[in-house]
Amino acid sequence: MLDLVKVELKEKILTNLNYEVDIEIPRRGDYDLAIPLFRLLKSTNLKLPFLYEQINNVIITHPHVKSTELIGAFLNIKLNSQSFSKSVLTTVYKLEDRFGEEPTNNEVVVIDYSSPNIAKNFSVGHLRSTVIGHSLKLIFQKLGYTVVGINHLGDWGTQFGKLLVAYDLWGNEEKLKEAPIDELQRIYIKFHEVAENKPELEDEARQAFKELEEGDKEKLKLWTYFKDESLKEFMKVYDLLNVHFDSYAGEAFYNDKIDHVIDVLNSKNLLKIDDGATIIDLGDDIPPALIKRSDGATLYMTRDLAALLYRYETYNMNKTLYLVGNEQKLHFEQLKRIVELLELPIEVVHVNFGLVLIDGKKMSTRSGTNANLHDVLLESISDAKAAIMEKNPTLESIDEASRAIGVGAVVFNDLKNDRNLNIDFNLENMLRFEGQTGPYLQYTSVRINSILKETNLDINQVDYSLFENPSYFDLVKQISTFSEAIKKAAEEYNPSVISKHLLVLAQLFNSFYGQNRILVDDVATLNTNLLLISNVRTVINEGLRLLGIKYLDEM
Ligand code: ARG
Repeated sequence: MLDLVKVELKEKILTNLNYEVDIEIPRRGDYDLAIPLFRLLKSTNLKLPFLYEQINNVIITHPHVKSTELIGAFLNIKLNSQSFSKSVLTTVYKLEDRFGEEPTNNEVVVIDYSSPNIAKNFSVGHLRSTVIGHSLKLIFQKLGYTVVGINHLGDWGTQFGKLLVAYDLWGNEEKLKEAPIDELQRIYIKFHEVAENKPELEDEARQAFKELEEGDKEKLKLWTYFKDESLKEFMKVYDLLNVHFDSYAGEAFYNDKIDHVIDVLNSKNLLKIDDGATIIDLGDDIPPALIKRSDGATLYMTRDLAALLYRYETYNMNKTLYLVGNEQKLHFEQLKRIVELLELPIEVVHVNFGLVLIDGKKMSTRSGTNANLHDVLLESISDAKAAIMEKNPTLESIDEASRAIGVGAVVFNDLKNDRNLNIDFNLENMLRFEGQTGPYLQYTSVRINSILKETNLDINQVDYSLFENPSYFDLVKQISTFSEAIKKAAEEYNPSVISKHLLVLAQLFNSFYGQNRILVDDVATLNTNLLLISNVRTVINEGLRLLGIKYLDEM
């Protein structure tokens, strides 16, 4: 809501003086807002004191502006802490979890996230994609967009040719029934080991995939089985994370939609035959995109194009986000380029992210350091449970709380830092109740809840003069800028903006709580405190929800 004041001041300055200014929130110091005047100084050729006078005269009449001061080339603004606090706190009190919400707009955003590969364990890389994508979905919805969440399952491609060949050679039906993904991974790894000295296996695999594409009944049946079993495993993870998709149309779904893409590409004269293969030239700066192999088989790119076109025809999206790691950078640059060549009005964004490290080393499926994600989540939940048993053994909803805390810890660990940074995967650290963790935020919210349960808030008995006190007013400012944080998170496709906002808010609250008694006898002070902390809880809870984390009433 501080942004609202900013907008109003900017408008006032524009209509009265015809100046376009930036308004910043100074990091520290005694001021609440600052207008840098350097640029204006140059463009108007006026003297600084005169410019200051002009702007001051215009903004000083704003109800929330208390005073201004010129320091260097900055016009610093002090807000009227009473009127501003009243407006923020009563708004949040009234809107509750709708605070920060924007009215519905006409834009459609497709988010392609999670998208694991069947017949493989759900990897931590896919966890990152899932968690960041899910949060972006909630954030864009909050801002009024229509969001379509799609799980573009990796269920098609030459790797399935490899699996079919491998299954023929070394598959064990019994083992497959018992632990499908483990068995499929075993034969897949074996395929690569053997194929190193026996390259003709690769040709067999290509052939097998081609037959699958052409609809070979036996192969399709086996493939369907691989897929169904894998999905069952993935659903366990999604259920724990409480993540659901609007569509699970994976790569195979586009098998019968390839001709359409080829037609569209042809109609724009984009296709070229090169050494028997079909390609699209994308300019000198990036390699051409391979659309069909010389044997006619499609590729990952072909299916991504088919998906994009299908989604455009189905959802008519304005923007499409792909939550995929950095190793596919080139692929999405090519896809973007093709969308430009097709002259489709879609903004394509590759939202990438860093690696997951364990003790500084990359986790990977091949080397076997990749623990099964479902097991990891269960472990986190059981550790959370042990911690609660110690702190609050009589808690009624202990299983629900352990699940929220255990899963929330893993999710927050992923979302607390800029997505481009690598994350460290250490359960013990993420489950701490202190520091930058999910449990810390959940605990702060629960703490507030238990105070609020003691007594009832009377909103008409609030003394806003208390907000002259910085420990009160700093909290108000942090509450008020939550709406800005949500917008920034969407602009940067970066949920960590919200995580950081919540951490600062929780820290401010905890130091406020250390300095001030909340449940005091004085009625006005009591109600002021209650209103303030209930606002803090509203923001923490809604922020957690936007990150895909459950908040709790008790823990
Ligand atoms: N299944 C792919 C992988 O694991 C990710 C798919 C991402 N989405 C897409 N439309 N290409 O590498």
